Order: sequence, then structure tokens, then C-alpha cells
Amino acid sequence: MTPALAEALRCPVCGGPLLLMGRSLRCPKAHSFDLAREGYANLLAIQKKHAADPGDGKEMVRARRAFLSAGYYEPLMKVLAEVCAELPHGHIVDAGCGEGSYDRYLYDRLDAPEIVGFDLSKEAVRLAAKRVPEAAFCVGGSFSAPVRDGWADLLLNIFSPFAGEEFRRMLRAGGHLVYAVPTARHLYGLKEILYATPYENEVKQTAYEGFTFLAEREAAATLTLEGESVQQLFAMTPYYWNTPADGAARLAGCRQLTTEIGFRYLIYRKI
Ligand SMILES: C[S@@+](CC[C@H](N)C(=O)[O-])C[C@H]1O[C@@H](n2cnc3c(N)ncnc32)[C@H](O)[C@@H]1O
Ligand SMILES: [Zn+2]
Repeated sequence: MTPALAEALRCPVCGGPLLLMGRSLRCPKAHSFDLAREGYANLLAIQKKHAADPGDGKEMVRARRAFLSAGYYEPLMKVLAEVCAELPHGHIVDAGCGEGSYDRYLYDRLDAPEIVGFDLSKEAVRLAAKRVPEAAFCVGGSFSAPVRDGWADLLLNIFSPFAGEEFRRMLRAGGHLVYAVPTARHLYGLKEILYATPYENEVKQTAYEGFTFLAEREAAATLTLEGESVQQLFAMTPYYWNTPADGAARLAGCRQLTTEIGFRYLIYRKI
């Protein structure tokens, strides 16, 4: 974390600005947060912490890291990078950033962005900080986010909880929000194996208070997975926790899986 990027952050106790002093972040009221070895900070407000280890667990995060590192979601990331390139993106906040593969991809393709990413999951943030040392990562929640008012030109929310008020607070006037949601057919091939009666995903409405909807871009592809990647995909989805035993057993016996994937990138401007 660089001193300049640390200034994007705010104190989770009093909301004051943070400065990087040596290996810790400090606010004017002397609240202090040490950086971890990997360079991230834990800025999760204690009163917001409902579980001992909130957010996605180690197993899920590591499955997502292995799967995304193999490049299977490249077609989806590519369109995201194109969407970002067309919007002002000097200061990007990635809310619910996960293990940072998207942020790595954006740093490698966009013209010198500065990225702040946060996530409730400590394991995700730890891996993200290792993969993208140029960015500032912290453990933090979207509903009480660790970023200063108006810092972001562009706020990304890729498959994580929607916290409209906080997203507006972090965005500068006229800043943009890119909200990624699944297409109706995202992971349909996986669901056909898991469930006797698979359903298409609900197609989300596009109106959110405080934002003007500008446009939508869709990214879609068909994947054929083999070996470990089948289980890795399963383990990084919410179906992993909600699938009846017979469905999970069918998938365990599955050596090859073909499935559609697709994201809709909904683009908004802060009113
Ligand atoms: C489906 S994953 C997506 C991660 C990443 N954006 C990606 O696409 O690879 C959802 C992420 O949201 C995080 N999360 C859940 N609730 C959150 C909250 N209230 N604030 C911030 N992150 C949260 C989880 O820990 C998890 O990493
Ligand atoms: Zn403070």
C-alpha cells in the first residue's frame, strides 16, 4: 500500500482520514491499524463483525483463486475492462473484491488506474494483496465501507452485496457504478447437473435510488471444464452450500462439464 493510496481510506472507528505512517494507518484521533505482512489492513468495524470469520471462507476463496487463475472467466473480465476503459477510471473502488483476480486484470489493461479493494473475507483480501501489490486492499464491509467520501471515479460491484448508500458516498459527483449481475443462463449447465429442475437466474431490474441507469453490456461464453476445475467452479458458487446430496454426488462423478456463463454489466451515474 502506497501513502497516496492509503489516503483513500477512512478510519472504521471515527470515520476520520487515515495516513500511512511506517507500517500502520493512523487517524487524527490516534486510532491505529497495522498493515499485515502482505500489505493489507483490517478496517472492519468491530461492531459490524457478526461472525468470527465473516465473508467467504478459505475453501471458497481458494477455489475461486484457482478457477479464475486458469483464465476461465477471461471473456467476462475482458468486457469489464472495456467498460472501465470507456469511463473515467483514475480512482477505482472494488467493493467485495474477493481474491483480486479482476483487479489484477484491470491493472494490466487499463491506463494507470489506482485501485482500492475491500472484502469481508480476510483470506480473500490476503490473497488479493499478494496478487496486486500496486493496489490498496483492506478487510471491510460494503455497508460501512472503509473508503473516504467522494474518492472514487468508478465503483465496481462484481457479484457482491449492493450497498447503494455507501456506493454513492464513496463516489465523487458524476462518478460511475458498474454492477455485475448474472445473465439468465449463467452457470445453467452446472445447475442442470445439480438440480432435477434447474431454474434460470432472475433478470434483475435496473433502477436504483440515487443513480441514473446509463447502459448495459453483456458478456457471455460457453465453457468446457475438465478435472479439478469442475469442483472448483462448484465450490466458488452459492450452490455449493444449497445443493441436495444427490446433486453434489452427480457432480462429483462428472469428469467434464459444459456450461454457459454470462454477466450483465449495469452502468450507472451517481445523481
Ligand atoms: C461471489 S464473491 C465475488 C468476489 C469477486 N468480486 C469476484 O467476482 O471474484 C462475493 C464476495 O463478497 C464478499 N462479501 C460478502 N458480503 C460482503 C459485504 N457485506 N461487504 C463486502 N464484501 C462482502 C464475500 O466475502 C466474497 O468475497
Ligand atoms: Zn479514528
